[in-house]
Order: sequence, then structure tokens, then C-alpha cells
Amino acid sequence: SSADLRFDNRVVVVSGAGGGLGKAYSLFFASRGAKVVVNDLGSGLKGEGSSASAADLVVDEIKKAGGDAVADYHNVLEGEKIVETAMKAYGRIDIIINNAGILRDKSFKSMTDKDWDDVLNVHLHGAYKITKAAWPIMRKQKFGRVIMTSSAAGIYGNFGQANYAAAKQALIGFSNSLAYEGFKYNIMSNAIAPLAASRMTATVMPQEILDALKPEFIAPLVAYLTHESTKQTGGLFEIGAGVVTAHRWQGTEGVVFKADDSFTPAAVKARFGEISSFDGPTTYPTSMKDNDWLGKLEVAKKLTTNKKGEELRFDGKVVV
Ligand code: NAI
Repeated sequence: SSADLRFDNRVVVVSGAGGGLGKAYSLFFASRGAKVVVNDLGSGLKGEGSSASAADLVVDEIKKAGGDAVADYHNVLEGEKIVETAMKAYGRIDIIINNAGILRDKSFKSMTDKDWDDVLNVHLHGAYKITKAAWPIMRKQKFGRVIMTSSAAGIYGNFGQANYAAAKQALIGFSNSLAYEGFKYNIMSNAIAPLAASRMTATVMPQEILDALKPEFIAPLVAYLTHESTKQTGGLFEIGAGVVTAHRWQGTEGVVFKADDSFTPAAVKARFGEISSFDGPTTYPTSMKDNDWLGKLEVAKKLTTNKKGEELRFDGKVVV
């Protein structure tokens, strides 16, 4: 319908767009008028090998449908070259979907340094390299939208995924920090934790469930979060099979101990139930500033205000 959100003249970079979610995003954005840089080095699930055809096939499909797209075959670790592809082809870069990923699932006991490094590199470092190269361009344009692809495994942790979970949780902190730094320049950054049928999940879920988890059912949220009309930033959303939820931190009311000799491990043990119970009143801090547990102590109030009574960040800067 005419009310549908359009992306005409917007340039979108989708990493890891040769299949799965990235392919679904690319087709979707192109169908809404965007120019799409379809990045994929065409590796296997574990990051082995490479082939240009994965990205080419998606570009062909977009062009056949009348859309505009270019293929890019760089490893996300060469993010600056992916951004260069976008600039050469289209002269700007509006939206980055950091989506490329690999798995090296192993029990932590059996995980090698390479398993750890490879996964951190593709997910976290790759997102860093692309976003870093595009950042000055987005600032200058006074427009940018960034998506970081996290995962439920990153939020909650998961058996056999210490490397993947570390990378995926890191992307949330990365996104939240960019949200602070980008807002003034109309750059919004959000993290999503999707659940969708792809080669990543094909072996771990039964077919009936996979059928309900189409990658196409992730695109509407990603498109909304990257549209020029949204001011949403620093968010974390879980999404799958048409269910979309927002997530935030929750703190307990906690216990205020006397800061003297009586504050011992045994004292902590005696009141640990109260420290960790979410049954009582709870807090929902959304920034370091909101994390006002320090405010429970008079002395801490002095630590968090300067002589003029202005509130300070922990790094000593005045909160704006
Ligand atoms: P997929 O394996 O189909 O897609 C990942 C793509 O990234 C592949 O086409 C691969 O060639 C590409 N890629 C891998 N390393 C690359 C590199 N160094 N440079 C450029 N491209 C590279 O998997 P899927 O499911 O579409 O995953 C997309 C993203 O969503 C990943 O970040 C994944 O961790 C995340 N995710 C997916 C979930 C799901 O249920 N499918 C669950 C949670 C997160």
C-alpha cells in the first residue's frame, strides 16, 4: 500500500547477504526502492572457502525484479573495501546491516584459539570494520542507520557457544554506544536477536518449526528500524516467526551494607537471597546514568556530582 515504508535513493549495505537472512533483507530493501550492496564472500557455514556466486545470484534476482544492486565479495574484515564498493557504485551509504556470521560450536573445553578468534573476527570485528569505515560518511550526511545482529545465545549464553555468545553480546554494547555517539548526527543503531530457518538452524530444528521461521519474517523489523522515520536507537529486539519483543535490563533493589568492617563475605552470604531476588521492587536502568544504585549512599552522591551539583558520569564527564 502507499503507506508502506519506502527506501528510494537509500543505499543499503548488507553483509553476509548471499543467503539466509541477509538475502531476505537484500531482496526486501531492493523491492522498496533501495540500492543494495550485496556483500558475501560465499564461505561455508564454518567460514571455510569462498565463491562469488552467492552474492551474484542475489544481485541477479534483484535486477530481474527491476531493482538496483551490486555484488561485493570482500571478507567483512575488509569492511573499508565494502564501504568503498558502496561509494563507487552509489556515492553514499545510508544503512548498514551487520549480518555476516559463522559458527564454530564446541564445548569450551574443546574450543581452540582459532575457533574463538574466527568467530569473534567475523561477527564483532567485521561489524566494527564496516561501521567504522562508514561512520564519517554517515556523520557528514547527517543520516545513518545501523543494525547489529546479536542472538539469543549472546543475550543469555548457550551451551557450546562461548565464542559466538561473546561476539553476540559484544555487539549489543557496541550498538548501544554508537546509539549515544550517533544520535546528534541522526545515526540510529539497534541490535536484533533473530530466529529464522537458515543453514545455521537447519540441523537443529524440526521441519514444521523451520517452516514457520522464514527469514522473510525478520525483514519488516529491520526495515522499520532503519527507515528515515524512526528515531528508535540503542534498542534490543528479539524476533522470529512474526513475534517481536523489546528487551531491557532489570536490577534488584539490592542491599545496602554498612561500608565498614561488618561488610564481610559472610555478611554477603547472609543476605544473598535479598541481593538476588527479583520478587521485591526492581529497577530498569537504561543508561549508566540511570544506574542509580550508587545514589543509595550519601557518600556516593558526592562521587557522582561535581562542585556545581551537576551529575557526573563515571568517567568524570558532565551528563548531558
Ligand atoms: P547464513 O549462514 O545463511 O548467513 C551468513 C552469511 O554470512 C553466509 O552467506 C556467509 O557466506 C556470510 N559470511 C560468513 N563469513 C563472512 C565474512 N567473513 N565476510 C562476508 N560474509 C561472510 O546464516 P543466517 O542464519 O542467515 O545468519 C545471519 C546472521 O543472523 C548471523 O550473524 C547469525 O549469527 C545471526 N543469527 C541467526 C539466527 C538464525 O536463527 N538463523 C539466530 C541468531 C542469530
